[in-house]
Amino acid sequence: MNTKVIAMEAAGVEPAALALAGQILRGGGLVAFPTETVYGLGANALDAAAVERIFAAKGRPATNPVIVHIADLPDVRRVAGDWPAVAEPLAARFWPGPLTLVLPKAAAVPDVVTAGGPTVGVRMPDHPVALELIRAAGVPVAAPSANRSTRVSPTHAAHVLADLAGRIDLVLDAGPTPGGLESTVIDLTVSPPRVLRPGLIAPAEIEEVIGELLVPGRLGHRAAPSPSTEPVRSPGLVERHYAPSIPMECIAADGAHRIGELCRQGVRVGWLAFAGANRDAPAGVPLIELPADPAGYAAGLYAALRALESQAVDRLIVELPPASEAWLAVHDRLRRASTPEA
Ligand code: TXA
Ligand code: MG
Repeated sequence: MNTKVIAMEAAGVEPAALALAGQILRGGGLVAFPTETVYGLGANALDAAAVERIFAAKGRPATNPVIVHIADLPDVRRVAGDWPAVAEPLAARFWPGPLTLVLPKAAAVPDVVTAGGPTVGVRMPDHPVALELIRAAGVPVAAPSANRSTRVSPTHAAHVLADLAGRIDLVLDAGPTPGGLESTVIDLTVSPPRVLRPGLIAPAEIEEVIGELLVPGRLGHRAAPSPSTEPVRSPGLVERHYAPSIPMECIAADGAHRIGELCRQGVRVGWLAFAGANRDAPAGVPLIELPADPAGYAAGLYAALRALESQAVDRLIVELPPASEAWLAVHDRLRRASTPEA
């Protein structure tokens, strides 16, 4: 299959391109598109065969459900069988935006979308291209992140093509996605609602709207990953999901001596650090520095991991951010990406 790429302005609505993309989705094809978080790989959520193509293109296990994207609030009724009282103020406050609500599913949603389960994850993305694409398609759009399964999510169209060229019909390239990390996923079918995946919206922001939230991994509930010169180990607990193709090890912010140690062992190291701390990378060690604030760091993280992977290195060394709740989603992704056996 030849993958077509159409470049467009992030803010601009280009009717001809969007009409084509909508037609592909209605016909059962696959379209990658930008959201405010990462690029998604879209298919008609009400067409089981189309959604199966997403799983085939990504090499995604059938046990992992996909999020359904809508552009207009009334469309929630097409995919969710119930709209609990807590959903209303959350949608009013955070949609469009990076919050996915897990709700009882409607009968029209095929099992492949929900991995056979009784619930469906729904969100309204905050990106004009995504919203206009969904409207052009005229159907809810099932879309996981547009990467091969186990790879880091794509924040640039080039990342989508590196993983999926030849396997999907179209990429709408509107430049880098601003958020850089995926949406926060919360389960509204339990009480209190529970965070299933930390993301761009912090638990405290959600609690301002609906009160108590169950947050696994929250400081005080379970220890945040402890800075160490050893790789982070969470055997059995962590789905190794957001993974770079090179072994990755997390170190404390003051653990830079680990770099020299590995270099002396002949390990070719790539280093991901925080900007502002006057680094001294040994000769030949590629160094990428990311902003020391959570939003700036999130925006650049996946592109930095992909850039370091493309260097001739054997090991990625990543400095852990502070152990505070503002960094919860970043910690979660780093934990999943780090390799216990590295
Ligand atoms: O920001 C995002 O959420 C991006 C953009 C494209 O919208 N999408 C994304 O999708 O990250 P994906 O498939 O890579 O991750 C979806 C997450 C998975 O952890 C999945 O298990 C969870 O949401 N999920 C989806 N539907 C669910 C459901 N019905 N119940 C529980 N978890 C669900
Ligand atoms: Mg994903």
